[in-house]
Amino acid sequence: SRPVTVPDFRAAKGQGRKLVVVTAYDYTSAYWCDAAGVDAILVGDSLGMVVQGHSTALPVTLGQMIYHTRCVMRGVRQALVIADLPFLSYQISPAQAVRSAGKLLKSSGAQAVKLEGGVRTAPMIRACVQAGIPVMGHVGLTPQSVHQLGGFRVQRDRDALLADAQAIVEAGVFAVVLESIPAALAAEITAAIPVPTIGIGAGSQCDGQVLVFHDLLGLYPDFQPKFVKRYADLGNTIKAAIETFCHDVRSGAFPTPQHSFR
Ligand code: KIV
Ligand code: NA
Repeated sequence: SRPVTVPDFRAAKGQGRKLVVVTAYDYTSAYWCDAAGVDAILVGDSLGMVVQGHSTALPVTLGQMIYHTRCVMRGVRQALVIADLPFLSYQISPAQAVRSAGKLLKSSGAQAVKLEGGVRTAPMIRACVQAGIPVMGHVGLTPQSVHQLGGFRVQRDRDALLADAQAIVEAGVFAVVLESIPAALAAEITAAIPVPTIGIGAGSQCDGQVLVFHDLLGLYPDFQPKFVKRYADLGNTIKAAIETFCHDVRSGAFPTPQHSFR
């Protein structure tokens, strides 16, 4: 089938079809997500944590997002690719947002960007959309404001969250990530807005779900939020395989003639 477009993604809301999004940061992970049939791949600034090993996503630069998005694009045939604008690449002004989003899309070939924030980010989103750049929004727990929020915690201010979602819909987002909000509130927002909601820690009533690649596969060693379901235990699978490799090299069991040139 043909590649997923932004209008296809948006239209899924009216079709009762759940959207599936997974993050990826390089060619190989993107290849397997795409092969598994996800609707979209998000090149998340969560790479600051799961790839770079920082305790937040704040240190990630626009240049790094461009590098990882270029790697991801080479592995994708079908899925829509959305790339995060990192901290301080869009918050300063609408002009800065258009410049950063444009640079990211031009140099990578991704189809859309994601910006965090509601009412306060609406002017930046509007400017990008007016420049022809599709924007996914992100409200609730917005990890780029982790210090302002006082940690990675559930967001419960119903009126503020509804106002945030409405503001970015009016600014022109084609979809919205809802992160770490009570399931009933996510359901209310999902019913109230015309674009798909993609939940992470936001219950089952969203129009789709997103998980971080390393969380879904059991690869990230540091912690596991309550909202993560591990679909594999690849960290331990990798460890066991490499332990066997260590053993085989040390014992002389590898390589054999089968792996050698004569
Ligand atoms: O950076 C990221 O991975 C994200 C998702 C968790 C939505 O923004
Ligand atoms: Na992100």
